[in-house]
Amino acid sequence: MLKRTLIFVSLLSLFSCNKKLSEKEKVAYISTGKEITQATFNELSTNLMAQMKLGGPMQAIPFCNSEAMPITKKMEEKFNVSIKRASDKLRNSENKATERELQIISDYKSALKNNTELIPIVEINKYKNIQFYAPIIIDSKCLACHGKLGEELNVKTDSLIKTLYPEDVAVGYKVGELRGIWSIEF
Ligand code: HEC
Repeated sequence: MLKRTLIFVSLLSLFSCNKKLSEKEKVAYISTGKEITQATFNELSTNLMAQMKLGGPMQAIPFCNSEAMPITKKMEEKFNVSIKRASDKLRNSENKATERELQIISDYKSALKNNTELIPIVEINKYKNIQFYAPIIIDSKCLACHGKLGEELNVKTDSLIKTLYPEDVAVGYKVGELRGIWSIEF
């Protein structure tokens, strides 16, 4: 179904000849983008939560450290796109945001402040490929590893994180805050 919609939309764009996305294309790519981010989130989250159940953060963190990227890679292959979780406050420096991603993070933060809805974005990137962005929001399940030090995030967990990621600044978050964005290139 997913493939068929995209083939249909790509055919449409063959006839439209211009580089701007039509409303119809935007709607289709937003829906596909949401599907991909939801599936990737579920894959990461299910695996992570299973490790949390087995041994708490001390077991789940090394798991994240070695498996978050391979799991994401597997989803990239499944959907034939590139998938990135970018942030302005990084744990893994490989997730560094581009200038455009930082702009979108800043726009989403303003939207949160103004209580307006955070909606996914689709646009043509500088490589003339289609790019999808959507917000990643902190929920209570994230706090054991991204929350306030000495509160939800205990010192032992934090020191394991800092051993694996000496530059880590992805802590101090509260539920409802923007952790970063999904950035998907078709
Ligand atoms: C068990 C600890 C743990 C939990 C719980 C956790 N994370 Fe993380 N998070 C990590 C680790 C470790 C990394 C680095 C992964 C890597 O090396 O690729 C990470 C990386 C990320 C990144 C990539 C950006 C960056 O800074 O490298 C995002 C986005 C993120 N987490 C969001 C979340 C969200 C949202 C939740 C809750 C739904 C969550 N995390 C729950 C440990 C955790």
